[in-house]
Amino acid sequence: MVTTLSAKTKHFLDLEEQFGAHNYHPLPVVLEKGEGVHVWDVDGKRYYDFLSGYSAVNQGHCHPKIIAAFMLQAQQLTLTSRAFYNNALGEYSQYITSYFGYDKVLPMNTGVEAVETAIKLCRRWGYAVKGIPENKATIIVCSENFHGRTSTVISFSTDPSSRNQFGPYMPGFTVIPYNDLPALEKALQDPNVAGFLVEPIQGEAGVVVPAEGYLARAKQYCETANVLFIADEIQTGLCRTGLMLASDHENIQPDILILGKALSGGTLPVSAVLANDPIMLTIRPGEHGSTYGGNPLACRVAIESLRVLKEENMAANAMAMGELLRKELLALASPNIAAVRGKGLLNAIVIDHADKNAAWNLCLTLKDNGLLAKPTHGDKIRFAPPLIINRDQIMECVQIIKKSLESL
Ligand SMILES: Cc1ncc(COP(=O)(O)O)c(C=O)c1O
Repeated sequence: MVTTLSAKTKHFLDLEEQFGAHNYHPLPVVLEKGEGVHVWDVDGKRYYDFLSGYSAVNQGHCHPKIIAAFMLQAQQLTLTSRAFYNNALGEYSQYITSYFGYDKVLPMNTGVEAVETAIKLCRRWGYAVKGIPENKATIIVCSENFHGRTSTVISFSTDPSSRNQFGPYMPGFTVIPYNDLPALEKALQDPNVAGFLVEPIQGEAGVVVPAEGYLARAKQYCETANVLFIADEIQTGLCRTGLMLASDHENIQPDILILGKALSGGTLPVSAVLANDPIMLTIRPGEHGSTYGGNPLACRVAIESLRVLKEENMAANAMAMGELLRKELLALASPNIAAVRGKGLLNAIVIDHADKNAAWNLCLTLKDNGLLAKPTHGDKIRFAPPLIINRDQIMECVQIIKKSLESL
């Protein structure tokens, strides 16, 4: 697969190649502008963004209200640290806790920091409330999970490329298969289990949607075993799957809710851990924190990012446009699509082709035809546009996908 690159594009690719660590393998496109569902490259070519910064840009690129909140606060006060109070954190805490129905929020920055926070909080609760003997707490996790890149979090990854040669690994995690209730039931028999950490849909694994009822039953099992149900909704939350949270599809409230990505509409790293007092108040002053966590800029941006999700009915649009997208993709009846799956606007196709590079090659062709998407785990391509995409745009994108598939 050869795509011709402009001299300008090559220049930026070369700079990254020469001076940047080689820890990513990006599609060869250099972006310089984004607005709504579109991004533009350095040569002025426009694309549909079907990745949305791995679901960080749910509200669309440079949403005017989010950017306005950002600009206003950026000129006022950006960072105090938590050594002092600021006039945004309290208001944000009140806003986000009532938005999701929890007593308290603990603000962090990146997604994986929020996962780390949830793990510490869960362990602390395990010792302080559940009475697990010191250093014996375990957390159940699922195979094929993706919760981020820190050394603790990759310790319970089952993906060799995330894990290999990064040991020694953090103990205290029990891995069970995803979407497997009997395995969960069995693992919960260990009295030292403090929590069950799960993605309501496994995004990075290729948008793996569990059986209906799985999450609700899992929550029930956890309650019975006095174990915290921890939902990593960093990718699935904030309207991505057609409801505010993916947990809402099964009417469950996680004991610990982890959010990130679209909490700032793609403007800066903002993450959050939500829980009720009996859990959250087990962490006391000086026991956890972050210099940037809860900074006033993040707080104002997060309030606006949450507000526009509701104001613009993004959950309902994601639900309707997701259904349309999957229906139209299935109607293509392409011999090279083995499966179309997803919920709301978190979708993936599984490519069936003799060439093991077919998914990557298809993404290159999609790029040439004006749509950006990225393969995950070789043969899967995620289709997750910003949630403000409309019917005409979905239909145009399906035509781009059709045309690109024909060239495989
Ligand atoms: C479910 C889930 N958890 C955690 C993370 C890590 O977030 P971050 O890259 O912001 O650390 C991701 C990122 O893709 C994710 O999808």
